[in-house]
Amino acid sequence: MSKRTVTTLQKQKEEGVKISMVTAYDYTTATLVEASNIDMVLVGDSLGMTMLGYDDTLSVTMEDMIHHTRAVSRGLHDTFLVADMPFLSYQTSVYDAVMNAGALVKEGHAQAVKLEGGVKVKEQIRAIVDADIPVCAHIGLTPQSVNAFGGFKVQGKDEAKAKQLIEDARAVQEAGAFMVVLECVPAKLAEMISKELTIPTIGIGAGAGCDGQVLVYQDLLDMYEKMKPKFVKHFAHVGEAMKAGFKAYDEEVKAGTYPAEEHTFKISDEVLDRLY
Ligand code: KIV
Repeated sequence: MSKRTVTTLQKQKEEGVKISMVTAYDYTTATLVEASNIDMVLVGDSLGMTMLGYDDTLSVTMEDMIHHTRAVSRGLHDTFLVADMPFLSYQTSVYDAVMNAGALVKEGHAQAVKLEGGVKVKEQIRAIVDADIPVCAHIGLTPQSVNAFGGFKVQGKDEAKAKQLIEDARAVQEAGAFMVVLECVPAKLAEMISKELTIPTIGIGAGAGCDGQVLVYQDLLDMYEKMKPKFVKHFAHVGEAMKAGFKAYDEEVKAGTYPAEEHTFKISDEVLDRLY
């Protein structure tokens, strides 16, 4: 794998080479992603749900994001690392946005930050980009707006909402974002936006017409049982494999068959005889 940068990712869009992105939240998972050919890792604030057990992403803090981003950064080398800006770390002011984006880079070692919103956050995007921190925007179903949306719902279905989505996409590109995530957007609309924008679009529930795709790793590996959105495909059944592994371990411990001879360390009888 060669080192991914904002330049190589832009080149992928220009050459029609799809971009793959997956979430990760810890060192071990990051090393496993690094061993694949996946282009980008997102330390998503979805960690609030998948790692911390909340019902949504709203309680995730900057401390949580820095802690997990730093761990992931230690497991990556060539894969591009993006960290999510959590709820109220950028909506409050342009100053907060720049300082918190900076903390994700300085302390978390992210190469870029992601924030949710279109026209509404264009000043924040511009200021972060002016501080030389690449920004990935996120429009459509923005999970931090779950209460305002009245649930996790597909966005941009009627004419007014579709027009707003196009305006949001144009605004984030104009503000300097290097990439934009389109979440839960009708496939044809996402394709139109992807064709119009010069920056790469990354879809999640937005069809194959985007320039790349992102999935939460627990979704793609079938590990998260609380919710299964329509766009999720299970590429492996790691949850079942883990349950089977834990069950087998429990059975062997209780049967006394683990640890066996080959899992133990030896001491000479001579030494033992001198002990008692
Ligand atoms: O937090 C996250 O994991 C995300 C992706 C679902 C795009 O924002």
